[in-house]
Amino acid sequence: MTPLLNVSDLVCGYDRPLFEPLNISLGPHESVAITGRSGVGKSTLIATILGMLAPVSGTVSIGGTNVHTLSFSSLAKLRSQKVGTIFQGGELLSQYTAQENVALPRLLRDPHDRQASDEAATLLSQLGIEPSRLARDLSGGERQRTALARALIVHPQLILADEPTGALDPAARDSVVEAIFHAIENADCALLVVTHDDVVAARADARIRLRDASAPTRNI
Ligand SMILES: Nc1ncnc2c1ncn2[C@@H]1O[C@H](COP(=O)(O)OP(=O)(O)O)[C@@H](O)[C@H]1O
Ligand SMILES: [Mg+2]
Repeated sequence: MTPLLNVSDLVCGYDRPLFEPLNISLGPHESVAITGRSGVGKSTLIATILGMLAPVSGTVSIGGTNVHTLSFSSLAKLRSQKVGTIFQGGELLSQYTAQENVALPRLLRDPHDRQASDEAATLLSQLGIEPSRLARDLSGGERQRTALARALIVHPQLILADEPTGALDPAARDSVVEAIFHAIENADCALLVVTHDDVVAARADARIRLRDASAPTRNI
C-alpha cells in the first residue's frame, strides 16, 4: 500500500544541509515523533514536507505524490485536501470564534460547503471546546485543541504538528496529547509530530532524533 507520508534520504536546509539523511514511512494510524536540539532543523523539515522549501537532497511524497514536483496550484490543492498542520502557538484568527476558525479551511476549499460549520461545532464539542467562544479568549491548551479540530476538518491523510505542546503547562499538555493521539487512532490519518516533550514522544509509534549534518561521528 502507498504510504501516506514517505520521506526518502531527505536532507533539509536553507544554504547548507542541516541534518543527516532522514527516512520515514507512515501509513494510516501511524505516528512518528521528531526530536532534536533547537536549531537542528525540525521546523525546516515541516516546511519541506509541506513543499514550501525545496530539499537539499532526497524526496517527500504525500499519498504517493512527490510534493516537490508539483506546480504551485497543485501543491496548494494537495495541502488543502490531504494535510492538516498544527503550529506551536495554535495560530488562530483571534477575533473569530473557535467554530469560524475551524470551518475556515473547508470554506476556503468550497465557500458553499454547508456542512463545514456544523462539523466544526461537532469536532470542537468532542474536544471540549465551546464553539461560540472567541479565539482570543481561549487558553493555550484550548487553542491547540482548536488547531487540532481545524486540522481534522479537512479529513487529512497526514497531520503535521510542530511542537503542539511547547507552550503548555502539564495538565493542558496532557489534554492536547490525548486529543491528538485519539484522533489518529480514529481516523485514516498519519501523524508526524515535532516535539521537545518526552511525554509526546513516548506516545508515538516511533521516535527519530535529528542529528546535525556536521556532527562528528562518535563510533570510536
Ligand atoms: N527562513 C530562513 N532562512 C534561513 N535560515 C533559516 C530560516 N529559518 C530557519 N533558518 C535556520 O535554519 C536552522 C534550523 O531552524 P529550525 O528549522 O527553525 O530549527 P528547529 O525547529 O529545530 O529549532 C537554524 O539555524 C535557523 O537559523
Ligand atoms: Mg522549530
